[in-house]
Amino acid sequence: MLNYKDLIYDAAKEVLQGLEVADIAPSETFCDYCIPCFKFAKILRKSPAMIASDAAAAIKAPGMKVEALNGYINFTIEREAYVRETFSHALGTSKPLAGKTVCIDYSSVNIAKPFHIGHLMTTVIGGALYNIYKALGANAVGINHLGDHGTQFGGLISAYRRWGDETRLDERGLDELLELYVRYHNESETDPAVADEAREWSKKIEGGDPYAVGLFEKFKAITLEQAKKVYNRLNIEFDSYLGESFYVDKVCGVEKKLKAKNLLKISDGAEIVELDNDMPPAIIRRSDGASLYIARDLAAAYYRKENYDFDKCLYVVASHQALHFKQLFKVLELLGAPFAADMVHVSYGMVSVEGMALSTRRGNVLYLSDVLDAAVEKAASIIAERNPSLENRQGVAESVGVGAVVFDALYDGRLKDKNFSLADALNFDGETGPYVQYTYARCKSVLAKAGYKKTSDIDHSALTSDEAYDVVKLIGDFDDVVYSAAVKYEPSIVSRRLVKICQAFNRFYNADRIMCGGKVEKARLFLTARVAETLKYGLGLVLLDAPEKM
Ligand code: ARG
Repeated sequence: MLNYKDLIYDAAKEVLQGLEVADIAPSETFCDYCIPCFKFAKILRKSPAMIASDAAAAIKAPGMKVEALNGYINFTIEREAYVRETFSHALGTSKPLAGKTVCIDYSSVNIAKPFHIGHLMTTVIGGALYNIYKALGANAVGINHLGDHGTQFGGLISAYRRWGDETRLDERGLDELLELYVRYHNESETDPAVADEAREWSKKIEGGDPYAVGLFEKFKAITLEQAKKVYNRLNIEFDSYLGESFYVDKVCGVEKKLKAKNLLKISDGAEIVELDNDMPPAIIRRSDGASLYIARDLAAAYYRKENYDFDKCLYVVASHQALHFKQLFKVLELLGAPFAADMVHVSYGMVSVEGMALSTRRGNVLYLSDVLDAAVEKAASIIAERNPSLENRQGVAESVGVGAVVFDALYDGRLKDKNFSLADALNFDGETGPYVQYTYARCKSVLAKAGYKKTSDIDHSALTSDEAYDVVKLIGDFDDVVYSAAVKYEPSIVSRRLVKICQAFNRFYNADRIMCGGKVEKARLFLTARVAETLKYGLGLVLLDAPEKM
């Protein structure tokens, strides 16, 4: 897309030499952009109105009308030129991040824990960023940093041996593991023997004892099988599932680096790195020899740099781990790691769920798959009412129900806490995934009815009505919108724009009759096709399917 701001800057600079013309503001009232002249008055010893009118007469900005009004120089883009410019580029073909590598650590589930609602945000924000970076030409590396190391797994083995049973585990999978874990937790509080036994098993896992490792691998397989079902429904992919356990034996490499820089201190038998006054020290190894979470993350950071040579490494993790990442990045900085400044904690707020009865909670956690099922069921009943003869109703309901949950999670700025409501997320007329999907299907149905054939030979002047032009403007800079979502790590920038496009398209659809014959019809159909293309592309970026019919 042409950068009109730069064009204005260059044109204005030539006339208003020596003045600071950089604050070119977008305007929604009298023009598209304006330059206020008030602060030039003192320097030029002329009234702002006079400066504006002299400058407006002299500035030649290509494709724009330049006028003076009340001390402002107003720039109005010529609509036809803008429409032509917009449609001279194909969507998604500029690749501003080509050659860049971005590691994205997201979802990062914990073994033997169910995939609960708390994992929704990290999974979909990370998954959307993965798509967005790829679309911009970057080499995105999706990493599921599994929580597969810790004493709790010893506890689980001991609980399984005390109270568990193979057939029940095979039948009930994670539900069984969760119950065993809860029981282990409760009983270890009163019976120290349980905790001791757990510690023994956890040592055996680390020591490579085949029986212990075998059981642990089974727990891992059960967890991943469930997680992968959810990932499939959410259109999520990963390139790596290397978890914490992979890094346990790589922590000594980190210790070596810390020692070489004289950063490793011993405190009460534990290895620590002292940090700034405002941060507690980073504990690398406990006095009993066990490595800590941050130590494994340090090892992982070096490993990722060596293996992927990333330009950025993102961690999509809830804001309650902010201190952990602050400490992690600080230690890397103290170590002089050249990539320390390329690490980003992409943080997000809390999620709560409204309108899901406690009875759907299992062991006091709300499974994400149960939330998705509830959404799909509701979507199915809405579709049955709106369009009973629709083919593949169940498939569409899955796309709409799951899409509603995902879109809702990605609609607000990520730092905001969220209260999720199924009814709101599934409102076909609200700012929702189903609304965008429905608008896409509407475009497709208009095009099908008209027998539209792809063409780019259209009369651009036929798309300059207020309603059509609003649509053109919102799809015209869509690539820039995707880019800004990437640099701000904020998929909501894409989802919000999709809703705006749909609102504008629906206004256009109601105001300008599409099937009106001749070159105007041809141009309006072309615009409809471009809207459909943009919606499908954008929905894909934020992980949603785009059913052709709804
Ligand atoms: N498994 C952790 C959790 O669920 C998140 C891991 C995030 N990634 C990382 N490299 N620390 O809390």
